[in-house]
Amino acid sequence: MSNQTLTITDNRTGKTYSVGIENGAIKATDLRQIKLAEADDPGLCTYDPGFMNTASCKSRITYIDGDKGVLEYRGYPIAQLAESCTFLEVAYLLYHGELPNEKQLTDWVNQITTHTILHENVKQFMTGFRYDAHPMGIFVSTVAALSTFYPEAKKINDKSVRMKQFYRLLAKVPTIAAFAYRHNIGMPYAYPDNDLSYTGNFLNMMFKKTETKYKPNKVMERALDILFILHADHEQNCSTNTMRSIGSAHTDPYSALAGAASALYGPLHGGANEAVLRMLREIGSVSKIPEFINRCKAGEVRLMGFGHRVYKNYDPRARIIKQTADEVFEVTGRNPLIDIAVELERIALNDDYFIKRKLYPNVDFYSGIIYEAMGLPSEMFTVMFAIPRTAGWLTHWEEMLDDEDQKIARPKQIYLGQGTRDLAPAARK
Ligand code: CMC
Repeated sequence: MSNQTLTITDNRTGKTYSVGIENGAIKATDLRQIKLAEADDPGLCTYDPGFMNTASCKSRITYIDGDKGVLEYRGYPIAQLAESCTFLEVAYLLYHGELPNEKQLTDWVNQITTHTILHENVKQFMTGFRYDAHPMGIFVSTVAALSTFYPEAKKINDKSVRMKQFYRLLAKVPTIAAFAYRHNIGMPYAYPDNDLSYTGNFLNMMFKKTETKYKPNKVMERALDILFILHADHEQNCSTNTMRSIGSAHTDPYSALAGAASALYGPLHGGANEAVLRMLREIGSVSKIPEFINRCKAGEVRLMGFGHRVYKNYDPRARIIKQTADEVFEVTGRNPLIDIAVELERIALNDDYFIKRKLYPNVDFYSGIIYEAMGLPSEMFTVMFAIPRTAGWLTHWEEMLDDEDQKIARPKQIYLGQGTRDLAPAARK
């Protein structure tokens, strides 16, 4: 008999059960057999709010070892990918499992490049948002609205239809993001320039003024590629789990991705980069840092950009972003907030409160400082996260649809409310 089993004794009944262990996990449904004598006992379940110790799927996309600070896409360490690849190569790797050869890359880039334009009707309704609408709100709503433009996307069992939506979404999210930005600042929308790279074109759509041909700065173009690679996927985080969860109802990918982007919008997730900038401005100067750290320790505020559910070590992405910041500052000039951030990190990493709880800088701690140096308002930071994460969300959606173990996501609850009672009309008078 295999020793890959777990023996459980139910002390309520004295009965012993054996459940199988596979890949270091037991199946939660195997616990159902553990019942009291009562016929209506549904059996034992696990209680795990926030999925602290529950695997919701098997995945072959991204590997994280949070204790060691390791992050790999399809087996490749993140630092090597950031060093040698473009974002579109990494998107191919995520989706197909292998890096593309030259021909595959050319086809891939062509497919994505030819889908960058938005339907003019999309542009029209984007103009209906108020001038100060948060760009993430515009982004989420516009992505959701795309489902009405591509109703065939509902054919989620057709692989070629799915592939087409991947091209469309990855191509259009930068255009939506840039239009949202220009809407906020009252500039006419700049159309995509398909002669440029993915990130070069994004800079064009963001910053083109009256010149006939926008020439992206090479350092900025490359820095964006690196930032996009670092943000492309992060296994079962809150927004990816949302993508899978909505997708499990066989919803079209536009609606599912709008849901995932909404999850990303939250300040505990992708909204943290915006919150970091607000925090750095609120601190204002290096001399105020000790006072702010004391407020964190007293539980009054959180040190935004610090801590992670999975990383209990330095987030490898934060290290790469810190290097990228120096390269960007060579072009843009130094963002003065970096001095507060560096000192904040130094003090926090030497403070018992943060050491004991294994709180280290995460990906969001430095990314906002770079985006600000590039000239982006803080409201755009989460949008900058959503663009590359689109590749990760869609890859997980695809994996989920092909996974025979998957069913519609539907957790159990532990009901602690009122028992059955009769409505007594007199009692309501
Ligand atoms: N500042 C101060 N204390 C913190 C922080 C922080 N940033 N993060 C966690 N703690 C404390 C927390 O108060 C708790 O202390 P105690 O044990 O005394 O109650 C302990 O550390 C464990 O925290 P938790 O909230 O139970 O941990 P979690 O795994 O549920 O939360 C987190 C992870 C990322 C939501 C959290 O660390 C946090 O709120 N960080 C700030 C927001 C942030 O930077 N988010 C971006 C995450 S990375 C990008 C992404 O995933 O989108």
